[in-house]
Amino acid sequence: MDAPKSKHITWSEAIVGREDRERRNGHKGAVLWFTGLSSSGKSTLARMVEQVLFERGCHTYILDGDNVRHGLNRDLGFSPADREENIRRIGEVAKLMVDAGLVALTAFISPYRADRDRNRALLPPGEFIEIWCRCSVEECERRDPKGLYKKARAGQIPEFTGISAPYEEPQAAELVLDTDRLSPRECVERIVALLEERAIVTGPDDR
Ligand code: ADX
Repeated sequence: MDAPKSKHITWSEAIVGREDRERRNGHKGAVLWFTGLSSSGKSTLARMVEQVLFERGCHTYILDGDNVRHGLNRDLGFSPADREENIRRIGEVAKLMVDAGLVALTAFISPYRADRDRNRALLPPGEFIEIWCRCSVEECERRDPKGLYKKARAGQIPEFTGISAPYEEPQAAELVLDTDRLSPRECVERIVALLEERAIVTGPDDR
């Protein structure tokens, strides 16, 4: 991990800790890191999973690429360096959210393996759950809800992931969801089942 710029800062410990918050919340904190091409289903699934968890009384929050780039990361574009910084900042924000006891759901293309792995390393083992929304470029391009693939093909958007910029496939994601084959409902069921299996949340009948 990079050291802080100044040598004159110290770490200050809170009195209320993460475990206190988790005890009160009745579930653990974790990051559900959705990764995949644009239009592969990341945001849709994050929203649907959040709804299920929220209705079960879990404390959740979604960080979504398109939204975060309107605020916190509005200074960043899509060059490799900017994408790296985008993902670095989100990893830090997600870590704060886990410390706050939340289930954070992040929906970013996050095309570089090293950036995803760096964020995984920010958290204790088992708390970073990488979910690869695996979908062919052809299918993403067919969906193209924002018309961006069309623009990218026409040369109007440079460095577009899957067309003119790379996507490095995960090698050890906790979950691989073939979103061009599975229904959104099936994907959500698999994600929630994994969270129950890992005792991050309890099942609807265990409460
Ligand atoms: S990331 O590569 O840095 O992780 P991020 O998830 O924040 O990307 O933003 C991706 C979203 O920005 C896409 O879903 C799409 O709507 C939009 N976008 C705009 N330009 C590009 C581009 N060159 N490549 C990919 N997505 C782009």
